[in-house]
Amino acid sequence: MSLNVIILAAGQGTRMKSSQPKVLHCLAGKPLLQHVLETAQSLSPRNITIVYGHQGEKIRTQFENFAENLSWVEQKEQLGTAHAVMQVLPHLNNPDEKVLILYGDVPLISKQTLIELIDKTSQEQLGLLTVVLENPFGFGRIIRNKANHKIIKITEEKDASQTEKEIKEINVGIYLCSVKNLKISLSQISQNNIQKEFYLTDIVRDNIDVSDIIVQNPYEVYGINDLEQLYILECYYQQNTARNLRLSGVRIDQNVIFEGNIEIGPDSRIGANSILKNIKIGRNTEIKPNSIIEDSVIGDDCKVGPFARIRPGTKLSSQVHVGNFVEIKNSQIHQKSKIPHLSYVGDTTMGESVNFGAGAITCNYDGANKHRTLIGNNVFIGSDVQLIAPIKIEDGSTIGAGSTISKNTPAYKLTLSRAKQQTIEHWVRPKKEQKE
Ligand code: UD1
Ligand code: CA
Repeated sequence: MSLNVIILAAGQGTRMKSSQPKVLHCLAGKPLLQHVLETAQSLSPRNITIVYGHQGEKIRTQFENFAENLSWVEQKEQLGTAHAVMQVLPHLNNPDEKVLILYGDVPLISKQTLIELIDKTSQEQLGLLTVVLENPFGFGRIIRNKANHKIIKITEEKDASQTEKEIKEINVGIYLCSVKNLKISLSQISQNNIQKEFYLTDIVRDNIDVSDIIVQNPYEVYGINDLEQLYILECYYQQNTARNLRLSGVRIDQNVIFEGNIEIGPDSRIGANSILKNIKIGRNTEIKPNSIIEDSVIGDDCKVGPFARIRPGTKLSSQVHVGNFVEIKNSQIHQKSKIPHLSYVGDTTMGESVNFGAGAITCNYDGANKHRTLIGNNVFIGSDVQLIAPIKIEDGSTIGAGSTISKNTPAYKLTLSRAKQQTIEHWVRPKKEQKE
């Protein structure tokens, strides 16, 4: 089956009360639209068309290079969801192909549910997802034929009668049908409603054969219209991610935030208030509270934090110890090395069993360019040392505390650069002047 996906993302998102287009607001650190795009792409469709409009250029710029099968259609005036789909019709030429319509503001729809819908819906049917919500306010209500339970209509909140408003089954905003049937259905839609819009929901009529799935997890199909709804979904996402990790043997303390792809091995523990974004952490590693780790890989049996910041491009091998108030960026730290307190390590390759003393830092930036620091195995860097990159510290070097090191240091020798300590005999501390 050749599948065409249409994602609607032209709406203004008025209820967000934000100058940013709605679909660019982030859920778990990723724009709403990106969640939908990634799920759509996982179905291997022939193409994905994004209908853009309100502040569309911003959206286009951000996703222009997402995939080769992505195309863009502008909806100049936002006259409703059906009008948005109508803009794509000239690009759909094969009547037998299928069209899957997704809303850009329903981010957590799963691949499994979409596959179920695709498998269940025959060529002539209209596939539709619904969900039962405790509080259905604001959503389109599903009207079923009392006798045979078939879906015959969707009524928007604003157009609904009092009895219809009591219905808790709502329209998710995801539709599947053939190109042929979509064209026929859309040609019959009018703006005959309170909002004077072309509603896509009007493709559901009593003479249409609907194949529906009632989704069990309401969050999967939750639509975002305002910042409160975004917050509700963010809370769900965080709790659900933490729950899945716990069930796989990772201890997650309170208030940990997850963004992007997260992989953590069993027996590891993530301390309270930590923020993890696109990370891979091995087994039996402890991230102590209030640590921030981004785009990095951390091995087995490590200890990181509290209050550590691991920035993109960092790789810690096993049994590495990173202590409090340490920042590491774009660096590889090998087995059993320790950076226990108050350090900055940037653009560095550090060997095995290195001790990087308290307050020691790499000076990687000369005001114009970044340079690398290479540290061998079994190196001992004393406290408060500055390593001026580019520089190489050979295996087994010992660097005396307080040194500023600007030249490569030889293996297995002590190197230091400090003024000699002296004591002034007979020196007297000045006395406070007595006022008359
Ligand atoms: C829509 C459905 C409603 C459903 C709800 C689920 C309609 C008429 N109503 O309502 O039944 O319960 O979603 O979340 O479809 N858009 C455009 N162009 C437009 C208007 C909207 O591209 O002219 C896009 C928006 O960017 C958004 C999506 O379509 O991604 C839905 O529009 P929105 O205004 O949020 O519809 P709802 O009122 O939420
Ligand atoms: Ca919506």
